Amino acid sequence: MSCTVLVAGSANLDFVVRAAHVPAPGETVLGREFRTFPGGKGANQAVACARAGGADTRMLLALGNDDFARPIEASLLAAGVQLHTIRDAQLPTGTAFVCLSDDAENAITVAPGANLALRPCHLPALDGVQWLLLQMETPLDTVLAYARAARAAGVKVALNAAPAQALPDALLAQLDMLIVNEGELAVVAGDPPDLATGLARLDVPCVIVTLGARGCLAREAGRTLLQPAFSIAPVDTTAAGDTFCGTLVAALARGQALQQALLAASAASALACTRLGAQSSIPDTAEVAVLLADATRVPGADAHAALAAWCAL
Ligand code: RIB
Repeated sequence: MSCTVLVAGSANLDFVVRAAHVPAPGETVLGREFRTFPGGKGANQAVACARAGGADTRMLLALGNDDFARPIEASLLAAGVQLHTIRDAQLPTGTAFVCLSDDAENAITVAPGANLALRPCHLPALDGVQWLLLQMETPLDTVLAYARAARAAGVKVALNAAPAQALPDALLAQLDMLIVNEGELAVVAGDPPDLATGLARLDVPCVIVTLGARGCLAREAGRTLLQPAFSIAPVDTTAAGDTFCGTLVAALARGQALQQALLAASAASALACTRLGAQSSIPDTAEVAVLLADATRVPGADAHAALAAWCAL
């Protein structure tokens, strides 16, 4: 049976400059090469979902009527994403300004532009959709309206709460799955003293916390699942979290168990960190399969034990 994921959210053109380090407030850093890449958390997640395979991927996005929109549309279409595009004549296509440091860290400032034009009335019919995947680069009332409509239609709702902001209970109540990193967990769960407290404060059926190079953990139906990260030499961590989210939801949509989905998502996001750019870095299902088939690279029992000890759960 075919399954469909709808991603509703942002699309940006990323302006990336590499530099020795990310500038501190008030500091000017002389960078090196400059490139543009199709990005935006929503569009990155849609590309990851499509490249993961096994699920038809649709995306609702808003773009300006300008040249910045073209590479974004081309990248999504090349990945096989079916587009529902809202064209805003007044606002420019969203842009993101990325400083990428030599140690693969980044600092990103987003100018949302047309992403702010995505309104509740734009949600397409949800016939045949199994999962709706949302992020926080579009207006909160839009995200809430989409989550409510999906829940009412029997569609499962996943939210990646990035960029971090406090979420109303009304939104949390519509979610089947919440995906956050540690910083986002701190904001969403009101600065908890530890992971366990943060997880306990969130009344969502499945909460996943990504822990960067350590891995991730999931709490679902009273059980905790751990997935240590794959060991890699990072080049650019931009879109690693987006790759994780899109791959995870694609795996769940095609019927994989949560533990298997976490493994695939971790493998895909590790590969994404080894390449430059956002959508340009996201691997396809064949590349992920090669990594998963390499027993020397799949994290083993020692890595699980180390992650469990670190999580103290
Ligand atoms: O998560 C990475 C993305 O954040 C970038 O592609 C940038 O566009 C911002 O949305």
